[in-house]
Amino acid sequence: MTDVVTGAFSYTGQAIARLLVAEGGDVWSLSRRQESLPDLPLRVEPLQFADESLLVQSLRGARTLYNTYWIRFPHGGVGFEEAVQNSRTLFRAAGRAGIRRVVHLSVTNASLGSPLPYFRGKAEVEEILAESGLPYAIVRPTLVFGPEDILVNNIAWILRRFPIFLVPGDGRYLLQPVSVEDVARIAVHAAREPGNLTVDAAGPDTLSFEALVRLVAAATGSRARLVHTPPGLALALVTLAGRLLRDVVLTREELDGLRASLLVSRHEPSGADRFGDWVAQNAGSLGTAYVSELARNWREPCTAPRSRST
Ligand SMILES: NC(=O)c1ccc[n+]([C@@H]2O[C@H](COP(=O)([O-])OP(=O)(O)OC[C@H]3O[C@@H](n4cnc5c(N)ncnc54)[C@H](OP(=O)(O)O)[C@@H]3O)[C@@H](O)[C@H]2O)c1
Repeated sequence: MTDVVTGAFSYTGQAIARLLVAEGGDVWSLSRRQESLPDLPLRVEPLQFADESLLVQSLRGARTLYNTYWIRFPHGGVGFEEAVQNSRTLFRAAGRAGIRRVVHLSVTNASLGSPLPYFRGKAEVEEILAESGLPYAIVRPTLVFGPEDILVNNIAWILRRFPIFLVPGDGRYLLQPVSVEDVARIAVHAAREPGNLTVDAAGPDTLSFEALVRLVAAATGSRARLVHTPPGLALALVTLAGRLLRDVVLTREELDGLRASLLVSRHEPSGADRFGDWVAQNAGSLGTAYVSELARNWREPCTAPRSRST
């Protein structure tokens, strides 16, 4: 039986693909990337939304579609509305291709009433999937940590390099990090459950943003002083740093989402891996290099459409 994963060279998608392959599964990936991973044998099909019939062709014959596709923020003329429409196209193609179940990665506290377009767009996609007629499981992660992580890595990078770390506001807003491996396990488990379902993917520990930063600082040996600043000032300085790094480090909306404690589940934790253990185990490498969201997801060759592999 074949499963399809969007983003098998990416973060969560790669963890899902690795788990399925380790179980002996046949996995295809839909991706913009032309990479190949020597230890992850995959058939790769283009992830492009302009040609729905090509998507149908790429999905035909597969059983489950694991969908991780989304954009972190609007950029280069592409916004959340387009990401919602692209998701609609993907689900329609999945239905036409005879996919038997869609496991869709959303986010905790996605809501149609959210003032934050990321969380509202996620809820719109959930609704589109629920109304598509396809059997589905929606997996809603909190903050995902793991080897390809961006946010925690870059917090560590700042802590390693600068004498002060700006904590926006009081720093008491909460996070409930979940490991990328736990997210993959929850997604694969959800694929095999009967009926439509929506589950959070959240780790066992809930901690404040400041506590998370302190934990990373202690593990990496940082002596940076944590300084509380008004959120607007912190954002202005982070935006300036982003310009120097040619990246978007954190958007206003992401900061608002963090400060509203949206990356926390209201249910029993479904993940087992502890954030503190992971940070301690990876302290030597965490934050030694800055990881750019724009370089990873927005610059060539990522954005170049590819022709279909044969
Ligand atoms: N990471 C987190 O902490 C977190 C937290 C909560 C929810 N989530 C959700 O979980 C899912 C997976 O997250 P992730 O961090 O693993 O995402 P990711 O690896 O950055 O990207 C996932 C997928 O989206 C595609 N993609 C990303 N940026 C794109 C862009 N600018 N244009 C076109 N396609 C783009 C990637 O395509 P390619 O394979 O072609 O690169 C990949 O298929 C997403 O839906 C995300 O919203 C993530």
